[in-house]
Amino acid sequence: METLTLTRPDDWHLHLRDGVVLKDVVHWSAARFGRAIIMPNLVPPVTTTEMAGAYRERILAARPEGSAFEPLMTLYLTDNTPAEEIERAAASGFIHAVKLYPAGATTNSDSGVTDIRRCDNALAAIAEHDLTLCIHGEVTRPETDIFDREAIFLEERLAPLLARHTHLRVVLEHLTTAAAVDFVRQGPERLGATITPQHLLMNRNDLLAGGVRPHHYCLPILKRERDREALIDIATSGHPRFFLGTDSAPHARHAKENACGCAGIFSAPLAIELYAEAFDQAGALGRLEGFASHFGADFYGLPRNGDRITLQRQPRPIPKALPYGDGHIVPLRAGEEIAWSLTDDTLAPEAS
Ligand code: DOR
Ligand code: ZN
Repeated sequence: METLTLTRPDDWHLHLRDGVVLKDVVHWSAARFGRAIIMPNLVPPVTTTEMAGAYRERILAARPEGSAFEPLMTLYLTDNTPAEEIERAAASGFIHAVKLYPAGATTNSDSGVTDIRRCDNALAAIAEHDLTLCIHGEVTRPETDIFDREAIFLEERLAPLLARHTHLRVVLEHLTTAAAVDFVRQGPERLGATITPQHLLMNRNDLLAGGVRPHHYCLPILKRERDREALIDIATSGHPRFFLGTDSAPHARHAKENACGCAGIFSAPLAIELYAEAFDQAGALGRLEGFASHFGADFYGLPRNGDRITLQRQPRPIPKALPYGDGHIVPLRAGEEIAWSLTDDTLAPEAS
């Protein structure tokens, strides 16, 4: 049987939510990843160092027995985030990034930024204290076509932001377009990007052709096949500024299978396996370790993980639904198969 052993990967973009569902969600990521950048779009959003510290404690308490999974916390940027809050965040040692959601761009982004220039003091402090700015890169004007929102953001918002803050380290999250790939590739060394498994494996036909698939709906929305191909090309190229970030975003089944369904794809139960499948299909399994386990840590200035995981080429059925609080959640590939599996050694908690 073919196996693949990697330095334990990290997830540089993850939603874990809060409260009773934490225990149902955290263990999937903890079995695969050493660390994860934890998104702050809770209700209310994680806008202070104190809130991030309390949230971190709840995540640590929800880990499986013996797990060393480390949540890397983020602050939610608002129009009014004071520079002093950024200073406190940097001093905490457990906050590694600040997340910029344009107001109204996605789930729980109502308190997000209405005009990036209002954040210039906070952004200067992020650069000064060597934190990372993570960006949901979409314009939010209702009249802008949803398939164009990312590409327009690059020229209209991101280019001026990078020009105004010449020492700011930025991660453009969840790339979905060939335009974004080009923008990041041509950008400065301090600009990195994450890529999700769904954007490597699916295009907008998987969302809309033959029926609406609410479990394939996420933001930024799936794009064209040529965009997917550009993402595969860059992810498997060995370029060190493009790395793994699942954007696994759990929502209860009823919130997805709804006349107005929520955006978010729950990939945590098979996250690294999905990337293995995508890299394998591209004939580039040898490049997975850099993308999944090295480049993100290097970009964030953190050490690479010291332990390993092993994947085997063995199909595994994915359940139709999984427990989620007092209800259920539907993971990506529900009722189907994934081509790769983690070995039992990797899944045992003492392996981490
Ligand atoms: O699909 C998404 N879901 N995109 C986001 O940006 C947010 C996320 C969520 O929190 O559900
Ligand atoms: Zn996200």
